[in-house]
Amino acid sequence: MDNLASLRDEVLSAAAAAATAAELDEVRVAALGKKGRLTGLMKELGGLDPETRKARGQALNAVKDEVAAALDARKTELEDAALNARLAQEVADVTLPVRPEVSGMIHPISQTMDEVIAIFAQMGFTVAEGPEIEDDFHNFTALNIPPEHPARQMHDTFYLPEQADGSRFVLRTHTSPVQIRTMQNQTPPIRIVAPGRTYRCDSDMTHTPMFHQIEGLVIDKATHFGHLKGCLVEFVQTFFEVSEVPVRFRPSFFPFTEPSAEVDIGCSRKGGELTIGAGDGWLEILGCGMVHPNVLAACGLDPDEYQGFAFGMGIERIAMLKYGIPDLRTFFDADLRWLKHYGFVPLDLPTVTGGLSR
Ligand code: PHE
Repeated sequence: MDNLASLRDEVLSAAAAAATAAELDEVRVAALGKKGRLTGLMKELGGLDPETRKARGQALNAVKDEVAAALDARKTELEDAALNARLAQEVADVTLPVRPEVSGMIHPISQTMDEVIAIFAQMGFTVAEGPEIEDDFHNFTALNIPPEHPARQMHDTFYLPEQADGSRFVLRTHTSPVQIRTMQNQTPPIRIVAPGRTYRCDSDMTHTPMFHQIEGLVIDKATHFGHLKGCLVEFVQTFFEVSEVPVRFRPSFFPFTEPSAEVDIGCSRKGGELTIGAGDGWLEILGCGMVHPNVLAACGLDPDEYQGFAFGMGIERIAMLKYGIPDLRTFFDADLRWLKHYGFVPLDLPTVTGGLSR
């Protein structure tokens, strides 16, 4: 019995002294493994007479259980200690300020879209979206641009390969098809803006094959040109963040609006430098008009009951004007130095009350 008692003490103190999981495992194997000392003593039981074997067996089992429990407890202790050491070492100070140089920057296109959306959201508009691969009906026909209409040529359309029925999908040439999808799927009153990518087969100093627009659409029973004007003047004043921006509505033509207008904002070009605001120059920034009755009808709305206005503008263009970015093509160069210069800090979300671009 004495050898069992001393074996027990020996194993327990070895377990307590083990400083690592590996050391502890050695202690376990030496005691309880296949060739372990306790296992050896168990094997000897077979050679004993029944009476002795019973007493010896019980004693051995008790020691075995005690040793196994002690090994388990020590294992948990060691694991806890290792975890605590790691937590102490890998401490992260969440109170440190954001470091812009490692957090990435918001691209001016995203920033400008967010600003425009914030302004219209404040006026009660919601955001709508549509597919970039469009069918002919949504991109043209429903917008009062029938086949053979000259406006189709003006759009420099990217066509996808012909379908079995002879029709061809297009890369949308403007965000106006979202007008159609919205009128088909919502009942008035409608107040949406639709930002997104648009495509035209055109590439030079001032055109890229992919660019961005934001569309606006308001449909209700008594919406008139005065609402269109007030809404866009308010937008321009807020967006450009300068004390006064003259706004001019110039008669124009779009197949899907009647009457149609282009909106110009005042600017000065004194000393070769372009400044938005009062001055003797004008810059065109968007197209707009009252939704054409044919468009309402194509969407299943009764033109005698409903009317409204729509507008569309190029995101790159207004971003260039607001942020003094001289070259359109640099938007798509993915040049980190450019992005660092013209980009925005991610956590400064644009809001009308809190500041659009700070
Ligand atoms: N879709 C027109 C364009 O791309 C812009 C526009 C939208 C004009 C809505 C009037 C109304 O040029």
